Amino acid sequence: MERILVTGGAGFIGSNFCNINKKKFDVTALDNLFLGDPDNLDKDVKFIKGDACKMEDLNRVGKVDYVIHLAGTSSAPMFMGEGFIQGYVNSIQSFVTVLEWARKNGAKKMLYASTSSLYGNNPLPLVETQEVTPINHYAVTKRTYEYCAKCYNKVYPEMDILGFRFMSVYGPNEEAKGIYANLISQFCWDIGRDLVPVIYGDGNQFRDFTNVRDVVQGLTLAIGHKEKLGADVFNIGTGHATKINEVVDALNKAFGKHIKPKHIENPVKENYVIGQHADIGKIQKVLGYKPTVKLKDGILEQVKNLRLNKIRQTSSQQFR
Ligand SMILES: NC(=O)c1ccc[n+]([C@@H]2O[C@H](COP(=O)([O-])OP(=O)(O)OC[C@H]3O[C@@H](n4cnc5c(N)ncnc54)[C@H](O)[C@@H]3O)[C@@H](O)[C@H]2O)c1
Repeated sequence: MERILVTGGAGFIGSNFCNINKKKFDVTALDNLFLGDPDNLDKDVKFIKGDACKMEDLNRVGKVDYVIHLAGTSSAPMFMGEGFIQGYVNSIQSFVTVLEWARKNGAKKMLYASTSSLYGNNPLPLVETQEVTPINHYAVTKRTYEYCAKCYNKVYPEMDILGFRFMSVYGPNEEAKGIYANLISQFCWDIGRDLVPVIYGDGNQFRDFTNVRDVVQGLTLAIGHKEKLGADVFNIGTGHATKINEVVDALNKAFGKHIKPKHIENPVKENYVIGQHADIGKIQKVLGYKPTVKLKDGILEQVKNLRLNKIRQTSSQQFR
């Protein structure tokens, strides 16, 4: 069975990848538990507590066929204030360390998480051929990954290094992210506890909400793809956009509740993304990707699987 290392494997997306693929591949999750939770992983998934910035921790994994690098400082607010230096150090150092380790280990491919945040308020739909100008430090680190991957692949073409610009991902196992979790999770945790969800502005801003199972689908297809792809990047989304107000309505409906959200003046004064909607033509054409989870069904599932005992603080809390 082929072996895959998933860095950040106890986190939200990583744990979903490992749990879904544990029978198809021999997967090992490595995570320093900065935000992840080993409880996110099914009991039969191998877990190593270790730092992706450290070769000696990666060496504990042994030989692998593929690496999926999801570890890093995983959202823009984490770079604010005291998080600034460590945010950069963690993201960049883990990326280059895992890259070197993967190549020296003989891995056939390394996949890594980039982000849709790179696009900022670019014209819609967001497409990989657009010029991007990162609008925050988080996006700068991801753009750096993409540039680094291209340079590295020129020197070492034997290993593909593929980046994935995830849109707004939601799904199970996000509790450990607390205030950094997706809006769907945060509003679900609010309404589930009879708390008022707080919406920035009029709620007409929209996102391409993508179920984590479809993100896993995209990554799995990339692992199985036989032709060389070099250092390419792909959007992963659904190609549909949904307004924040519609998400709150759908959650209320799924819970059978009627909790009215509170609208406040948007505290994010600069570079707030008004709308996000991916063009997924490239990943469909090259990898055969097809989104499978309708938002309505993903939300129902989210409500059904609510783990009240695991919920941490939500970002709404400070504004209630
Ligand atoms: N969730 C989204 O909507 C989204 C969108 C675009 C991109 N991404 C990217 O996808 C990746 C995974 O995101 P996620 O939502 O699962 O976030 P997450 O925070 O749940 O997962 C990241 C995991 O990496 C671990 N980690 C951090 N630094 C580490 C280190 N040095 N060594 C080992 N482990 C480390 C954390 O403990 C955490 O478990 C991130 O790189 C994120 O930036 C996520």
